[in-house]
Amino acid sequence: MPSSTPPLETSYRVVHISDLHIWRIPANPLLWRGKRLLGLSNLVLRRGRRFRREALPELLAEIERDSADHLVVSGDLTTTSLDLEFEDFGKAFDGWLGDPSRATLVPGNHDRYTRPAVRERVFERHFSPHCGEGDFPFRKELAPGLALIGFDPCRPNPFSARGEAPGEALASLTRLLGEERSRGTQALLFVCHYPAEAPAKHRRHLKGHDLVNGEELLALFQGFPIPTWWLHGHIHHPWSHRSRLAPNLTYLNPGSPILRREGKISLGRWVLDWDGRELRAEWRSLPHSASELESEG
Ligand SMILES: [Fe+2]
Ligand SMILES: [Fe+2]
Repeated sequence: MPSSTPPLETSYRVVHISDLHIWRIPANPLLWRGKRLLGLSNLVLRRGRRFRREALPELLAEIERDSADHLVVSGDLTTTSLDLEFEDFGKAFDGWLGDPSRATLVPGNHDRYTRPAVRERVFERHFSPHCGEGDFPFRKELAPGLALIGFDPCRPNPFSARGEAPGEALASLTRLLGEERSRGTQALLFVCHYPAEAPAKHRRHLKGHDLVNGEELLALFQGFPIPTWWLHGHIHHPWSHRSRLAPNLTYLNPGSPILRREGKISLGRWVLDWDGRELRAEWRSLPHSASELESEG
């Protein structure tokens, strides 16, 4: 049976961001092929104007002020999985990278954008210590009683942004979840780029962008007794959403902190405090974006 965790002397703080979509336009024309050609055209026409890379220092300063013990980034670090984009992310977040106890990263569909990017394990090459060396799902104990599982259902697909969790990853996740109680876990952070559910107002955004086997993944949490926070992104709106099907599950989406909406960016992020007994989640943003948060359930 799990032993109950004594309260921590100081609470443990996790900051969660997602979907920065750092972009670069490659000078090498050989990189302008296949799906990337589509992504780059889209970028030039639209994304480049919306994702404000120059706001990264401001975002980093806010995260610094949050005094986090651990940073979680739930995917779509990049736009077309270019080495240059991953390098830009690495440079910007240099202060967080290197020590796996300080940061966890999982890929989003844009970090698995092309088949070569997956075959050549570009994400893993850049961030191996922070993504369980790419052996998904991976588990970390962040603090007494607080565990994290990183999951990757992202697959390159020339015509779709849908994800699909492989059968063997579901089997490994089933095994990990089955062990959590005996490990004494009292709160679990499940980090996965895609959600399996969304608030009513945003359900249409998942159409054609969802997990092919999201129901199967969600089913693993339906009888799971430990309070779980599913940290994700993918849909660029911030929300907190209680699962309709898994009673102990809450989805947290920080939205995209540097996406310009109506001329403004949010710098939105979730700040999670674990005191050894209870986990509290607070969405922080610039004041003008506070009303963007959707809370359901
Ligand atoms: Fe995204
Ligand atoms: Fe995405």
